[in-house]
Amino acid sequence: MQFQLSEEHEMIRKMVRDFANNEVAPTAAIRDEEERFDRALFDQMAELGLTGIPWPEEYGGIGSDYLAYAIAVEELSRVDASTGVVLSAHTSLASWPIFKFGTEEQKRKYLTPLAKGEKIGAYGLTEPESGSDAGAMKTTARKEGDHYVLNGSKIFITNGGIADIYIVFALTDPSLKHKGVSAFILESGFPGFKTGKKEKKLGIRSSPTTEIIFEDCIVPKENLLGEEGQGFKIAMMTLDGGRNGIAAQAVGIAQGAFDAALSYAKERHQFGKPIMANQGISFKLADMATNIEASRLLTYQAAWLESEGKSYGKASAMAKLFAGDTAMKVTTEAVQIFGGYGYTKEYPVERFMRDAKITQIYEGTQEIQRLVISRML
Ligand code: CAA
Repeated sequence: MQFQLSEEHEMIRKMVRDFANNEVAPTAAIRDEEERFDRALFDQMAELGLTGIPWPEEYGGIGSDYLAYAIAVEELSRVDASTGVVLSAHTSLASWPIFKFGTEEQKRKYLTPLAKGEKIGAYGLTEPESGSDAGAMKTTARKEGDHYVLNGSKIFITNGGIADIYIVFALTDPSLKHKGVSAFILESGFPGFKTGKKEKKLGIRSSPTTEIIFEDCIVPKENLLGEEGQGFKIAMMTLDGGRNGIAAQAVGIAQGAFDAALSYAKERHQFGKPIMANQGISFKLADMATNIEASRLLTYQAAWLESEGKSYGKASAMAKLFAGDTAMKVTTEAVQIFGGYGYTKEYPVERFMRDAKITQIYEGTQEIQRLVISRML
């Protein structure tokens, strides 16, 4: 067992950190305030190859691995969790299922422009009455000649409205419940595809979250992903990896808040000494650092397992569970260390705290992670 990152991973970390510090951080607060996604930033990520980190070069990727991808999401989230999740949903939730289950033609047509960042990807599973109980979806896909007709809607779609390509799950045979779910690749321009309401959110506000609606939406039959009835498994397997993307996002958020809190604790003087000189503060920072390190190790381990082709579902759920809780704890403590200033928008820690909350909710709540983990014990 060795804990040292390879030269390639260190290079990717340095490149993403420089990009995050120089290009993403300066506008993070204002984009949060204005709830504004910046396509130009995504284009810059594409130029750096970040939109296709784990995919082979023949499909437009840079031929690296899931660990490099986790490091990239972490580094982006260290300054801006919204940018982190835009990349995570694009890579883990939209590109991965095409890479894994797509035909050669689907990979050329859809994975390649996603990997190159010419197109943005999204994933549509959740419905108003089907959240944690993902198998209870109602959206249907009726086969008619050479196409399917989709009817229904999906909510809470990360990258909704900005994405060009959506992986959507629908019932091709409602009588079979989850065994009747199929997966489809939809283009935003397909007839009958509409973007619905955009959510106003507590955190990750510059990452758009919308409803998507299918009204007799025509999907060519060659856009079925995998086989009919295989959709629920595709959805679950996609989330197995996606959860580690969220773990990486959580590690980044926690690290960003910790860095800010540590330097503040050293600079801020009260009662004639830096507040860091009080055990009440320094012990908090010790706990924060320890939990962040443990989260990072779990996250990198899950990413490594996936890169090695080993089983990673349980590791990924554990990483998301631990890192999500750590992000919430660490950001809350960071605000506490900043005191009154931390509660204002003068410092980034209130944004980190708002952003952290979603890591305990999306891609399966913490309660669902415990369900997934416990079933594998
Ligand atoms: N890999 C492969 N197959 C899997 C699987 C996995 N990880 N998990 C389940 N399956 C298979 C089972 O083997 C089973 O197969 P058979 O029917 O052949 O036996 C089938 O799927 C049904 O499995 P379960 O009986 O375990 O299903 P369930 O109804 O009890 O639900 C669940 C399982 C884990 C609770 C699942 O519903 C779930 O993960 N819920 C949470 C949904 C979720 O994470 N939503 C997030 C939305 S996306 C998002 O948040 C994106 C974003 O914004 C960024």
